[in-house]
Amino acid sequence: MSFQDKIVWITGASSGIGEALTYELNKQGAKVIISSRRQKALQKVKTSCLQASKVHIIPLDLTKTEELPSKAEEAISHWGAVDYLFNNGGISQRSEAINTQMNVIRQVMEINFFGTVALTKAVLPSMIERKSGHIVVTSSVMGKFGTRLRSSYAASKHALHGYFDSLRQEVYDKNIDVSLVCPGFIKTNVTKNALEGDGSKHNKMGAGQEKGMAADEFAQKLIPKIKQGKEEIYIGGKEIWGVYLKRFFPRLLNKILRNAKVT
Ligand SMILES: NC(=O)c1ccc[n+]([C@@H]2O[C@H](COP(=O)([O-])OP(=O)(O)OC[C@H]3O[C@@H](n4cnc5c(N)ncnc54)[C@H](OP(=O)(O)O)[C@@H]3O)[C@@H](O)[C@H]2O)c1
Repeated sequence: MSFQDKIVWITGASSGIGEALTYELNKQGAKVIISSRRQKALQKVKTSCLQASKVHIIPLDLTKTEELPSKAEEAISHWGAVDYLFNNGGISQRSEAINTQMNVIRQVMEINFFGTVALTKAVLPSMIERKSGHIVVTSSVMGKFGTRLRSSYAASKHALHGYFDSLRQEVYDKNIDVSLVCPGFIKTNVTKNALEGDGSKHNKMGAGQEKGMAADEFAQKLIPKIKQGKEEIYIGGKEIWGVYLKRFFPRLLNKILRNAKVT
């Protein structure tokens, strides 16, 4: 399988993982539609691409779910289809559950869960009609277990697994693949951009992200797994072991995380 001339829509493409995926897929010949809120940042990503003429910008805000059907129409009509939808846009959270306001919990869910679901629902009918498509969702290792200071974020990522595991079964006979991607620590601004309990921006680089895998290396590792149609993908450092510990030794993982320094 090759990405040559495949039509790929990536959300959260203005920075970090989405930006790196844009460069890599564009290099591999894909036609890429890039989305997020910040149009200027998207323009910068487009001009940094090797084949900028094969990049189209559609600004969107994942919290404005009522606008997503028309964004999907625009995306589908631009090159006639969407072969791959990379639901990657998201936001993290850094605050104890007790100190996190309900509106912040809802905002994290709106972006990471409801926005992702709404965009998928807007694109899905066209994939079903063509009997072809691949939906990729950036979850996290926090979609497989939780740690302190990330209760809402972990909840939003766990919710994605329930939803997209179910969807995968419903669209199997329609020739549509669903991949859930669980990155470990990837060196991006995700922690800087995270919300604190009162909704303010955390503004500090995460210690894990600081030492994490480079986003371009992550993209290079991810794409072959997407080509293979993997259902669930773990990429990162030793934090990935948490996924297996949770599965086989959950009490041990709980003990380790209880005593771990988390930032
Ligand atoms: N880096 C890690 O260690 C790590 C680990 C596990 C999972 N992840 C996941 O990876 C994905 C990408 O994150 P990243 O690490 O690349 O962080 P990032 O650099 O902060 O990127 C987040 C992206 O999401 C977009 N976004 C945020 N809120 C949005 C909204 N309301 N509507 C539309 N787009 C929005 C941002 O663009 P605008 O500001 O332009 O809207 C940006 O492009 C996220 O889903 C994150 O949870 C990251």
